Amino acid sequence: MKPYFQSDLVTLYLGDCRDQLLGLPSESVDLMLTGPPYGMAYEGRGQRAAAIRADGSRQGMRVLRQALTAAGPSLAADAHALVFCHWSSWPDFTDAVAAHLKMKGALIWWKNRGGVGDCTGSYAPDYEVLLHAVGGKRRPLVGKRMVAVLAGFAPVPPPKRLHPTEKPVSLLRLLIERSCPAGGLVLDPFAGSGSTLVAAQQLGRRAVGVELEERYCEAAARRLEQALHEGQPQVA
Ligand SMILES: C[S@@+](CC[C@H](N)C(=O)[O-])C[C@H]1O[C@@H](n2cnc3c(N)ncnc32)[C@H](O)[C@@H]1O
Repeated sequence: MKPYFQSDLVTLYLGDCRDQLLGLPSESVDLMLTGPPYGMAYEGRGQRAAAIRADGSRQGMRVLRQALTAAGPSLAADAHALVFCHWSSWPDFTDAVAAHLKMKGALIWWKNRGGVGDCTGSYAPDYEVLLHAVGGKRRPLVGKRMVAVLAGFAPVPPPKRLHPTEKPVSLLRLLIERSCPAGGLVLDPFAGSGSTLVAAQQLGRRAVGVELEERYCEAAARRLEQALHEGQPQVA
């Protein structure tokens, strides 16, 4: 299929990752970094209301399992995978990922910004969970050992978001630097507004993304173009 966007480093497809991933060269992906639909039936609120496709809990799990099956052959033997999830879908996401890769643990992205919900009856949900898994062949993380709670990465403020669950590029850059070798290939099967692809491009990594909704592909392509004009990739 013709890419929706292509540059020297990044290729973005508009489509269903369960079909697109089947065409990736075998054992080519060094890092799968993605935020699949969380299975929360997210609809947003107010002006920024926007439902996320495949976000019903059963549907979300089915899509994730099928996407992992489609991506499986493209993962290198020493690939890493980092998959965002919500605490309520954490056990199911772990089962789905563990069917393909060896679990190494979970990271917590601490957003340090309070949160909505039952303000007097629950703790503020100011974090997201990231599952870390690896292939059968060991490849160490780059750099000194870090703790699993990642702080200091502010969420994208709502008025600036191009996607309701957009991740900060700074956080994704850290994860890519540590889990994808120089010249390596990053895969995001649920690319949304392209945050993972922008982070990879800024670091001089190659990246492939797939997104089902054209409005998000459009946003991602704009960001990638803009990032290209703003600066040369840093090859690290
Ligand atoms: C949680 S969001 C990802 C947000 C992204 N990390 C960002 O920073 O913008 C999940 C995305 O997966 C997309 N999606 C859902 N089902 C898909 C499928 N089968 N193939 C490709 N994309 C899909 C949704 O449209 C949504 O944009």
